[in-house]
Amino acid sequence: MTQITTVATQPIAGQKPGTSGLRKKTPVFMGRHYLENFVQSIFDVVGAAGKTFVLGGDGRYFNDRAAQVILRMAAANGAARVIVGQGAILSTPAASHLIRLNKTDGGIIMSASHNPGGPNEDFGVKFNMPNGGPAPEGMTEAMYKRTTEITEYRMLEAQDVDLGAIGRHQLGSMVVDVVDPVSDYAALMETLFDFPAIRAMFAGGFRMRMDSMCAVTGPYAVEILENRLGAAKGTCVNATPLPDFGGMHPDPNPTWAKALMDEMFGPDAPDFGAASDGDGDRNMVVGRGIYVSPSDSLAVLAANAHLAPGYAKGLKGIARSMPTSAAADRVAEALGLHHYETPTGWKFFGNLLDAGKATICGEESFGTGSDHVREKDGLWAILLWLNILAVKQESVAKILHDHFHRFGRNYYSRHDFEAIDTARADAMFADLRAALPGLKGRDFDGMVVTHADDFAYTDPVDGSVSTRQGVRVLFDGGSRAVFRLSGTGTEGATLRLYLERFVTGPDELSEEPQSALAPVIRAAHQIAAIAEHTGRTEPNVVT
Ligand code: G1P
Ligand code: ZN
Repeated sequence: MTQITTVATQPIAGQKPGTSGLRKKTPVFMGRHYLENFVQSIFDVVGAAGKTFVLGGDGRYFNDRAAQVILRMAAANGAARVIVGQGAILSTPAASHLIRLNKTDGGIIMSASHNPGGPNEDFGVKFNMPNGGPAPEGMTEAMYKRTTEITEYRMLEAQDVDLGAIGRHQLGSMVVDVVDPVSDYAALMETLFDFPAIRAMFAGGFRMRMDSMCAVTGPYAVEILENRLGAAKGTCVNATPLPDFGGMHPDPNPTWAKALMDEMFGPDAPDFGAASDGDGDRNMVVGRGIYVSPSDSLAVLAANAHLAPGYAKGLKGIARSMPTSAAADRVAEALGLHHYETPTGWKFFGNLLDAGKATICGEESFGTGSDHVREKDGLWAILLWLNILAVKQESVAKILHDHFHRFGRNYYSRHDFEAIDTARADAMFADLRAALPGLKGRDFDGMVVTHADDFAYTDPVDGSVSTRQGVRVLFDGGSRAVFRLSGTGTEGATLRLYLERFVTGPDELSEEPQSALAPVIRAAHQIAAIAEHTGRTEPNVVT
């Protein structure tokens, strides 16, 4: 017999979920009552009695044991049923799909996204809503408040559920359905994309490299690309999810996916390269000898989505986060579509997708997705690229160059200054915000400011207002610098500096981005006095 125990506990400081749930160092999460307090706070806010949830994670260290704790707590809180990915594995987009497909009451995803995993790295837990998207701020605030008041949590005394065995299990009076993590997701992809056309392209000798970075997309990529689409065996590398991601930093950008970049720029480069992150919601795409920036990728996907069966009827609208380049706006204007500029974080797209105002959305941080789920989706973006390549029968380089000629080019880069002292970062932003009213009209070595503000967003669906979403400085001629502090870092503060310059005209389209952006970079450093405040003159990561 199983028995429900009520365990006395007390609040633990710092259980405040950010834009992507609660993320902390793994030893913190494994500390006494830590995971339990947060999970109980989730259930206290959303209610568990009689409900059905989805559960899975990206396979990082502690994923399996955390899943057992969450299951025992769900049972003790009266949940009727939990659908779990086999081995407690689910990519974030696959979890979002399962939540929607099974009309559940939401899901718990165990992930710290692209942050490294392992005994001394990061762990995370987030709650997704019945629409499959991240919990909105009101909800995460309520969970946080609950963690500050908690006095007890409920736990079922029971043995572990065998999460390796697909099928129905019983945990107390709760049903646990262990499902294949890949099959429903792969079936969804088959409804959206022209699999026969992509299969024919691979059969014709098209070569691809997919780097899953020892994280969650490995099994998805092998099944979809190699088994269903016929890509050569070995196309997918680092395809086994490992608890420490093999020591890799599973963030698909040119810095961390360097092996892929080297191959794509090397002598025997395949036609197409891609990588995805820890939990499978991010993607990077690369052509032979050409890198596609995420903002450009969003624009190209939006301009060509109609070539895929799932989007053949056209798009309802295009949404991008504020720091993402305006390349997608050019496409929307040309196609006569509405475009939306939201604050950073996928949750802001949810309302637009639910209301049918947007079909495709994206962020400069290697996130692209559509209304098929309510999370960004790395493999989805990669498959849409493959679909476009299969129909157009052109190289990535040709598609990109034609795109720039048609729509103009938004040179773009993001500079990250990581692990800055928090007090110094706050002081820099205080000074920057105070300087905003006086910036208009000032000339920084030829860069004249036309507008400066702290971005505020009014949700067009529910009217909610989000303020202080990042400082924007616009310059004469369409250049822009944006300053934000990261909401997902786990060490000190991270300054993100986003740089953009718009050009048209054939001669100006093939400059190296960092040199094309040099005047904007210089102006941004002067405006925010980055070196004076932080002691840093150079970013650690450039994407
Ligand atoms: C980062 C990205 C942001 C993304 C988030 C979750 O957040 O910049 O676009 O939505 O991760 O993947 P940040 O650390 O900048 O707050
Ligand atoms: Zn992620």
